[in-house]
Amino acid sequence: MTKPLTIAIPKGRLLDSVVDHLSARGMDISFGSRKLSAVDSTGRLEVYKVKNHDLPTYVHYGIAGLGIVGDDTVIESGHSFTNILTLPFGGTRLCVAAPKGTAPPESLGGTVTVATSYVRLTRDWFHRRGIPVKIIRLGGSVELAPVLGLSPYIVDLVETGSTLVANGLEVVTDLVDIKVKLIANPAYFKLHYREIGELADIMMRDK
Ligand code: PRP
Repeated sequence: MTKPLTIAIPKGRLLDSVVDHLSARGMDISFGSRKLSAVDSTGRLEVYKVKNHDLPTYVHYGIAGLGIVGDDTVIESGHSFTNILTLPFGGTRLCVAAPKGTAPPESLGGTVTVATSYVRLTRDWFHRRGIPVKIIRLGGSVELAPVLGLSPYIVDLVETGSTLVANGLEVVTDLVDIKVKLIANPAYFKLHYREIGELADIMMRDK
């Protein structure tokens, strides 16, 4: 029997959707208590459960040949991968948000302060528009920044919008739509394109 393909999947908001998607197509994954790696029930995949923002690092170094991750995390990592397919779940958008009634950042005419976990995406977006920006890097719970007065604006993922509403914030501008992708290390893809193609066919099937 051939060796399983190695694949990193993210802890956090995407984990249940990824496990459900694979399970519905016959690849059951069961991590033991606190265990971070597992082989699926068909023996096709060796799965590593990693922190979302570490996932591109594992795939970049070829430790995991494949990964399932949002565009946001890939772009932020600065690494390049082979895109295999887009998955039908986990789509979201990256937005500038601020307390209700705040003017758009381009209308201020000075340096805009923005708190975010997405430093690269935010810097590029403001610079492309010629808006001077000071970025405060946060690891999470970014919606607190305007509430507590750290910054008037944030850039963060918006899925249902309920976190914004709960904190008195609203979307000022959309930056980019985010999709969840199956990615591959480019060298790994060349070595395993046949098995990866079979996996992609299975993952694209309706249940
Ligand atoms: C994400 C994101 C927002 C929230 C958006 O946070 O950063 O905070 O989800 O979802 P909503 O629009 O459906 O409310 P996550 O739960 O991943 O944790 P984090 O705040 O620590 O990043």
